[in-house]
Parts: sequence; C-alpha cells; structure tokens
Amino acid sequence: MSLRIEKLHETIGAEITGVDLAKPLTDADMAAIERAWLEHIVLVFPGQDLDQEAQLRFAGQFGIVGERSRPAAIRPEGADFHPAVMLISNIRENGKPIGSLPDGEMWFHHDMCYVAEPYRGTMLYAMEIPSHGGNTLFADMYAAYDRLGAATKERIAGARALQIYNYSVTEKVPLDGDLDAYPHYVQPVAITHPRTRRKALYVNPLITARIEGLPGDESDALLEELFGFAEDRGLIYEHVWREGDLVMWDNWCSCHARTDFPETERRLLRRCTILGEALAE
Ligand code: SIN
Repeated sequence: MSLRIEKLHETIGAEITGVDLAKPLTDADMAAIERAWLEHIVLVFPGQDLDQEAQLRFAGQFGIVGERSRPAAIRPEGADFHPAVMLISNIRENGKPIGSLPDGEMWFHHDMCYVAEPYRGTMLYAMEIPSHGGNTLFADMYAAYDRLGAATKERIAGARALQIYNYSVTEKVPLDGDLDAYPHYVQPVAITHPRTRRKALYVNPLITARIEGLPGDESDALLEELFGFAEDRGLIYEHVWREGDLVMWDNWCSCHARTDFPETERRLLRRCTILGEALAE
C-alpha cells in the first residue's frame, strides 16, 4: 500500500488513501500527512477500522490529545468512554442522548475558540451515518480572509472579538446577562496561523458575539459582513459521511457547520482533539 493524496476542493480538503491508521505509520507517511494537513486543512481517510485506542494513538502523533471540556452536568451520563473522547450522537438510551451535539443543523464555528489556547485540530470518526443529511461543511478561513476588501482588512487590523459559548448548537449567548456564566475569551478577529504564518479570519456565527470597542450596531454590521464566508460555497468543502471515514481538520484556519438530518435515523461519530496554543494576530 502506498499513500495517495487527492484534492477534494480547490483550496480545502483532500482524501488520503493507502494508509491503515490502526497500524503504526512509517515516518515518511506521517511526514506526508503532516504536510498535507497544513496544505489542505481538512483530511479525509476513508475505509478505516478504528477502535477508540487506535484513534487516540493516531491523534497523539500530532500533539497532546485534549480531554473533554463539557461540564459534567451537561455531559451524557453513564458514558464509559475515554476522557479524551466525545461521542457525537443523536442515539438515545432511556430517553437520554448517549452523545453530545445530538440533533439537527449546527451553525459555523471554530472548536473551542472561547478559550485561551484553542485546539489545533479535531478528528471525527464515523460509526453510524443517516441515509442523508448530517453533512459537515468546512470553510477555508484563509480564503475567507483573502476575499475581504482592502478597507475591511484595514478595519479589522488589530481588532479583537468576544468568543462566548453556551453549549448549544444554534443559540448565541445573550450579551445583556452575566457573561461569566459562560466560557468566553477575546481573540484576534484575524489570526496568523502558528505553523504556516498565513492570515486566517477567526470569527464565526455561532460563537463570535461582538467586536470589542465598537458600538453594538457597528459591531453587528461588521460581523454580518465577516460572516459572509458562510454563504460563499466557493470557500466550502461539504463532507458527505460514509461509515469508516476518519476526518481531521485544522481548527485555526477552518470552521465547520452541520446540515440537518432525519431525527428518526441514527448518527454516531467519535471525536477527539489535539491541543493548541494562544493565537496572535
Ligand atoms: C462538531 O461541530 O464538532 C460536530 C460536527 C458534526 O456533527 O458533523
């Protein structure tokens, strides 16, 4: 078997075949995957047969694997999986979901952009997939930054945005209440990717609440313009899941969303993350 890389989109997404992620990889294959990850942002490995340990072992080759951060009170009960694993599932046992983010559409977001050191990457492994829907959309945030006009780029130079999350898939935190009740952090509106040194837009409709220092209406208008990437299909790779797909994405220069899917059909994916670092403009 030899590793092959094929692009899935002009700028974001590539499929890698010819590797069995459950087995130790050669140094050459690991180096090729690392390079491909930096270049293509989202990597799809189809037809993998991965138990929890194999997935965590693979993830651990890219950095320190993160532990679940969801507070125990809103974490599915009785889960006997590893602390670094989060199941994403709508399957219910005794009326309660066995996983997080169970139902329906999700708005575009960067994972954990509301902490001081956002994750570098996330890996999702597909175990049960509905007959249609539940696709994951990945937006290229380098391209989202590049497409902005010169005046907007100038306007966001040095700007910072409040990122705040309430562990809901479609609801934003109301800003008139106690913000300390929710995890939050102020991040640059555009970051420089720590490895590639390329500029990426770092705001998203689910978690970014306001641009610091601007009056509310100006902040809303600027965010509305910046969120335009979410409607630009030219910047987006849409992944249609197959069981056995392992997909890993760079959380610093992409954000992702999910399409709706039938609530009567089962969806089960296993997620783990790779820790990151503080992001600067
Ligand atoms: C996520 O945002 O991590 C979930 C993506 C998905 O369920 O496709």
